Amino acid sequence: MATDHAIGIDIGGTGIKGAVVDLGSGELVTERIKIRTPEGGRPADIVTATRELLARLDAAVQEDAPLPLGVCFPAVVRAGRTLSAANISHEWIGLAAEELFEQAFGRHIHFINDADAAGYAESRYGAARDARGLVILTTLGTGIGTALLYDGVLVPNSELGHLELDGADAEDRAAYSAMERESLSWEAWAKRLQRYYRHLELLLTPDLFVVGGGVSKHHEQFLPLLDLTTPIVPAVHRNNAGILGAAALAML
Ligand code: BGC
Repeated sequence: MATDHAIGIDIGGTGIKGAVVDLGSGELVTERIKIRTPEGGRPADIVTATRELLARLDAAVQEDAPLPLGVCFPAVVRAGRTLSAANISHEWIGLAAEELFEQAFGRHIHFINDADAAGYAESRYGAARDARGLVILTTLGTGIGTALLYDGVLVPNSELGHLELDGADAEDRAAYSAMERESLSWEAWAKRLQRYYRHLELLLTPDLFVVGGGVSKHHEQFLPLLDLTTPIVPAVHRNNAGILGAAALAML
């Protein structure tokens, strides 16, 4: 395995997935392994489950020296410490997560926010490749994750999914989980997205929106319903973007 390979692991509220990534092409060079996130999402259980997933990836590459490892997670992460927990156990708040994983794995890791990883991946290998100015990536899933990139440089921990809109946390109304929970039609959900993206536009005047998360594979159902002044395009890497970005950021 070449030295421009790294492992990316994406920890989410329902699944933990990982693969080895070719950092030149941005392609997965092993099968993507996915396991269920342990019930409750507590730190000790997630560390154990992630260690088992990592052992399977290490076995797949058969390297003498371990590959660089990036891990992304659905929380604000500053200097390796998780500072929030919107859809995961509150035990993560204030935890020295990077250190906890490093001790459990016996190796150095790079620990970052999941939307930031996805945004970095789309900027380097996907829909925002070569984009100039301000790109805002949003992931529409259980929550809304956001990444801000200016001329390809990531400004981490933007958390614009938690903007207060019409008296509610934006992600509670406009995340994909809200559509599922409330059995909304595409049209009804798109009205909420319109309100959300228009508000982002007014606040930040971006040059491009990229829409990620698994639901972006159905982008024809909702992106044409939005009326914005900013171009809005689907992500290219969807559910693999976190893995790609975590692996790529591990090398920086
Ligand atoms: C969290 C973010 C995360 C996003 C997507 C939000 O609820 O606050 O940190 O990026 O969900 O997982």
